[in-house]
Amino acid sequence: MSGVRSGKGGGGSGPGGGQRQLRVRVKTAKRRKTSSTRWLERQLNDPYVDASKRERMRSRAAYKLKEIDDRHRFLKPGLRVVDLGAAPGGWSQVAAERVRALDGVGPGRGQVVAIDYLGVEPLPGVAIVTMDFTDPEAEPKLKALLRDGGADVVLSDMAAPTVGHTRTDHLRIMGLAETAAHFACDVLAKGGTFLCKVFQGGTERELLDLLKRNFATVRHVKPPASRSDSAELYVLATGFRGAAAGHGAEATDRA
Ligand SMILES: C[S@@+](CC[C@H](N)C(=O)[O-])C[C@H]1O[C@@H](n2cnc3c(N)ncnc32)[C@H](O)[C@@H]1O
Repeated sequence: MSGVRSGKGGGGSGPGGGQRQLRVRVKTAKRRKTSSTRWLERQLNDPYVDASKRERMRSRAAYKLKEIDDRHRFLKPGLRVVDLGAAPGGWSQVAAERVRALDGVGPGRGQVVAIDYLGVEPLPGVAIVTMDFTDPEAEPKLKALLRDGGADVVLSDMAAPTVGHTRTDHLRIMGLAETAAHFACDVLAKGGTFLCKVFQGGTERELLDLLKRNFATVRHVKPPASRSDSAELYVLATGFRGAAAGHGAEATDRA
């Protein structure tokens, strides 16, 4: 017999505000693998999944950006943001609200430009580009959409579909992170911020060196919404030194 039943327990200090919650248990079913049952149970008991439905956020991931920004405060009204790997749009939603892309006035009105090769349903205040970010046409397209051709914040939550081979998955995500970092160094205005998904085990030396050369502060962050059993981690680089610092091999180490 299969089914979902509720029982007391668990409780939550998640985004729901700390009320005690009913814990949902999922019975195993003949046609469902144990791993699927575990996934379903985790989803049903995840306060972030619950909150994202209640607050009409496009993704659970939206809470990761909210938590990182609550702590480090880089999304401010009037700023221009690029969101790389934006689908289904949770991070763009958070960014658009915080930079006031829709309701800001004059210089207090921010901008969000998002890109993903998967479609993103239209979002108020967000310009959406549907294409692969590694396509050579992507960067000029994003720049053309940005006010004065530059950005104040570059976000990347890009992740290629995993193949289950740890080393391959790691290399693919790090490749995307490096491409995103070079783009950030190209497009950011002085003082700008770069936030990017990487993998536990740390950011590759080369990427870390690039960021340290070009930003005043570089740190790894793991927000509470990022599951502790996940290898996911974010690198947050703040205080972009400006184009003069250089991001190619010719740049000198200023870290
Ligand atoms: C974890 S999801 C992003 C979730 C998003 N931050 C949110 O809150 O809704 C990662 C996204 O990266 C996108 N992605 C991966 N590689 C990409 C690439 N080369 N170009 C554009 N998007 C890419 C995937 O299509 C996927 O939608």
